[in-house]
Formats: sequence, structure tokens, C-alpha cells
Amino acid sequence: MSCANDLSFSVYQPTRLVFGDGAVGELVSECKRHHIERPVIVTDKILRTKTDLVSRVEKSLGARLGGVYDGVIPDTGVEVIDDGATFVKKCGGDGLISLGGGSAIDTAKGMAIVLTEGGSIRDHQGASRLIRKQTPHIAIPTTAGTGSEVTLYIVVKDHAAHEKMNFMEDRIIPDGAILDPALTVGMPALLTAATGMDALTHAIEAYTSLNRNPVSDANALHAIRLVVEFLPRAVEHGDDKIARGQMLLAASIAGMAFNSSGVGMVHAMAHVIGARYGVHHGTANAICLPHVMRFCSDELGARYRDIADAMKLPIAGLGDEATGQRAADAVAELLKKLKLPLRLRDVAVPEAELEACAEASTSDGAIVFNGKFATDKDLLLGVYRNAY
Ligand SMILES: [Fe+2]
Repeated sequence: MSCANDLSFSVYQPTRLVFGDGAVGELVSECKRHHIERPVIVTDKILRTKTDLVSRVEKSLGARLGGVYDGVIPDTGVEVIDDGATFVKKCGGDGLISLGGGSAIDTAKGMAIVLTEGGSIRDHQGASRLIRKQTPHIAIPTTAGTGSEVTLYIVVKDHAAHEKMNFMEDRIIPDGAILDPALTVGMPALLTAATGMDALTHAIEAYTSLNRNPVSDANALHAIRLVVEFLPRAVEHGDDKIARGQMLLAASIAGMAFNSSGVGMVHAMAHVIGARYGVHHGTANAICLPHVMRFCSDELGARYRDIADAMKLPIAGLGDEATGQRAADAVAELLKKLKLPLRLRDVAVPEAELEACAEASTSDGAIVFNGKFATDKDLLLGVYRNAY
């Protein structure tokens, strides 16, 4: 990866996407393609007991199914990943099918490392350390937002030590992803809205990142077009499979964008708010996004002009900075339409702790990629206060 200004970059995007209503029916042929004889499903207990999604995937796999590991928790952790890998070994599994949101997919990425490299996931923290091909993994997202099915990142919590471990490895990008809108029609409206705003944030932060490149630019702009058109439809009419499918695509395409460009200030804030107050990642991004866009408009207005075009905003006659402000207003209007919280105070972030949050965001890994310099506590605090 490299800076936008020197036109030297690399993009590695190996995931085979299988898209379509009923695409989960292709699972056995996809397993064969990725040399998985005995797949183990990686999911959580709620999906397994409260929905029919796990049984649909089990049915699709038939006699090939090696087992179901349902120990995934919302912020995946060391124990979950290590236990899951032990479970797969006991089942004689040789490949992973993650089913769920970002945490299920991240858990399987971690398990793939432990199964191939041995030891505990704790032993493998870092970036670009893995040389070998890892255990094959096909992701089946049931939310449309994180893009984890196409990215090289995992965030793992060490719940005992209250620490967060980051992984960035080409070798953990899933081999395949099944994007089947039939599996996302049951997603509640609020979760649809919040995860969809995560995808929009990935796209906008990719397009304005210091690390952007022509490939991430192309993906980011198309993801923005899709989210703006189809997220309100998917939220309002959960059974609209066209909208659901286009949002699954938007999330994956936005994932491909930030996979090579990184994200920025919005994520540096959302990571802190999520870790400290348990605010959903997509909701935290949604609240911060328009305020960060306003903060960045003076320097990134030309980039926001392209974003405003992708959003089909009327911007004729506006200068770059005013265009950025207009795009931020449109994002804020979208939040209202989606009935998401608008302010940090609405999600119980204490005003007295904004300064500590700003301090913590200065050391978040995402802040260095922000297209406008933001690695400064006072700058961050100003945006936190505006978002409060
Ligand atoms: Fe995100």
C-alpha cells in the first residue's frame, strides 16, 4: 500500500464471490472448488436457535457437514477462536464456513490461522507474518456492512487482559463468499440501518484516505451509489430481495475499497466508543460520519465533490468546501430517515469523558490514514464535541 500522490500501490483481492438469490445452494460446489471435504460451520447460538439460517446451510452441505461451532460472541475473543479451532480438529474438519455478521467471519479467520499454524491465536498477532496458505474459508455474511468477507483484517479481544489485538494478513482473506439476499431478509430494520452505515463509512473513508488508489476509488464510489439507493429500501421493506442483494454487494465492494486504502477518523472514533461504551460499530460510525466530513471539508472538498455526485446531490455552483458540507448534511439526513441515533449523547456516551475518548483516538490505527491530518487530541475533541 502507498500514498495517493505517488501512484504506486498494490491490491490483493482473492475472494471468489458467488452472488444471487438462493446462492447458498452453490455451497457444495464452492467447497469442492476450495478443496474442502469436511466443512465446519462457524456461527453463534442466536442464529442457530432463533433462526433457520444454520439449518439451511446444514441442509445445503448435506453429508459433507463436519460439525457446527456456535461459540461466536459479538466481539470475538482469544478463547472463542482457540476453542473453535480445537472443535474443528475434533470433528476432523478441513475447512470453515462462517455464517453471521463480522464477528463470525473474523472468528473463522482467526481459527484458520490456529488450525494451520498451531498454538493460540495470541501467538500470531501482527501484520504480514503468514507465509503459507491458511485453512480454506468460505464466508456467508448475514448482515450487509462489515465487508469482512473480503478483507485482510481481524480484531480480536483478549477479554481477560482487556486488550485488543489487531491482525492484518493477506493470507486470511476468505477464499470464497456467498452473497445470498435470501439469508438477510430477516435482519431487523435497526441492524440493517446500522450495518449499512458501516458500509457507507468504509466507502467514504476509503475514497478520502491517504492510502487510496484507483482501484479503491472505483469500488468506493460504486458502493456509495448502492448504499444511497438501496439502504433506505432495505430498511423500510426488509423482504425486498433486490435491495437486500444490492446492500450485500455494497458491503463487499466497500470492503474491497478499504481493504487496500484503510479507513480514517470516523473509525478511529467509533473504535473507541465501541470499546468503552459498547456502542454498535455501525451506529458509532453513523453518528460520527457527518461531523468528520464537516471537519475535513476544507481540505477534502474535491474528493467530497465526487462523493456528492455518487450520492446524486444537487451541487451545481457550490465550491469544494460547500460541496463537502452539503454531502455531510445529506449523510445526516439519511441517518434521520433510517431512524438511527444522531448524537453521542443519544447512545449514553458521557460528556465528561469526551476528552479521554479524544486522547484514545489519537493512537487508533485508523487515524493515520485520514485524508486530513487528525492525529491531534484537540482536533479530535472538537469533532467529538460536535457529535455529542
Ligand atoms: Fe467498519
